[in-house]
Amino acid sequence: MSEQAFIPYSCQQITQEDIEAVQEALASAFISQGPVLGRFEADFAKKVEAQFAVGYSSGTAALHGLCMAVGLKEGDEVVVPALTFAGTSNAILYTGAKPVFADIDPISLCLAPQSVKACLSPRTRAILTVDFAGHPSPYRELRELADCHQVLLLSDAAHAPGGRYLGKAIGSDLADMTAFSFNPVKNISTAEGGMVTTNHPEYATKLQMARTHGMTRDEDLLVFPSEGGWYYEQQFLGFNYKLSELGAALGVQQLKRLDIYNNRRREIATLYTEQLSDLPLILPNDSPNGFHTRHLYPIRLREDAKIERANLFKELQSQKIGVQVHYIPVPYHPYYRGLGYQMEQLPETEKYYRSAISIPLHAGLKEIEIERVIRTIRSCL
Ligand SMILES: Cc1ncc(COP(=O)(O)O)c(C=O)c1O
Repeated sequence: MSEQAFIPYSCQQITQEDIEAVQEALASAFISQGPVLGRFEADFAKKVEAQFAVGYSSGTAALHGLCMAVGLKEGDEVVVPALTFAGTSNAILYTGAKPVFADIDPISLCLAPQSVKACLSPRTRAILTVDFAGHPSPYRELRELADCHQVLLLSDAAHAPGGRYLGKAIGSDLADMTAFSFNPVKNISTAEGGMVTTNHPEYATKLQMARTHGMTRDEDLLVFPSEGGWYYEQQFLGFNYKLSELGAALGVQQLKRLDIYNNRRREIATLYTEQLSDLPLILPNDSPNGFHTRHLYPIRLREDAKIERANLFKELQSQKIGVQVHYIPVPYHPYYRGLGYQMEQLPETEKYYRSAISIPLHAGLKEIEIERVIRTIRSCL
């Protein structure tokens, strides 16, 4: 019998058009700080119904830019889910501010508004929500809480480009600023890259400066009178977080196929849900309030399942099915433990983490691979 091929849990989709667009950017006069980034930003802003989009070199850099644009500093707190990639809360720590971890809703796997409420304090500057697995956050409830406590609502939509919530695009004015990631496992990719969208011009300006060392050439913004055409000023401590023209060229092409990719992900998720629903599993639900981009498909073992999570994981790996656990809750990491974080107050995050496995889901999965994933899970259970 021939060797079975490995099925990755996610994978970038690269077409001939993508390759040609990157080649064109590579052969152009500017491989960084040229016109293509502006085009990608304009196209992305239009797609997510935002006034401004600012490209970054990664999703984490985009989140850091967003935190800098808010002006977060030591003494500030930001409420964030414990169930996320550490990049979300690391971006808060980079500024000196403190992440305060809230629990998830066990159905949406996004922030539970009641838990957020319990985390708010006079030091809270913002709520930073995560559209986990592509499920839109409860933006309406979070906005009410944010307004009531006069804090900002920010979003990490690394999993949710193209998503919608109550008729609005993720990345529009649902949050004050929204960060996206385009790393290779995301719904669209620029190799490494990210974007922040906002409708607030003052944040857009800060976002542009934060990615270039806190510098500006804009005459209207200068602190001192311009000394000539070369003149620019550094006004705060920023970073070099620019997205290259090669990444932007890939992004322009990938964005054109975002809806196709998201719809394919949704079709595969529907198939999984149909074919796995009789097993002792809790399956991830679709959003009742919008468009779920199905970035991940995390299955959870029910208590009556006859197999342990670690054994199921090992068995699927040995059958060459790419699996992951998204995520080890951030406060579990030794670095965060060292900062004094614990998990006692987050029972739903803990329960989810102990039972979850993400199974393959990406727009390039073939029927035969989907069938093999389903068949293998069924045989393990
Ligand atoms: C929820 C979430 N936030 C932030 C990030 C960071 O994005 P990047 O890998 O592009 O820095 C990721 C990516 O892994 C993510 O999944």
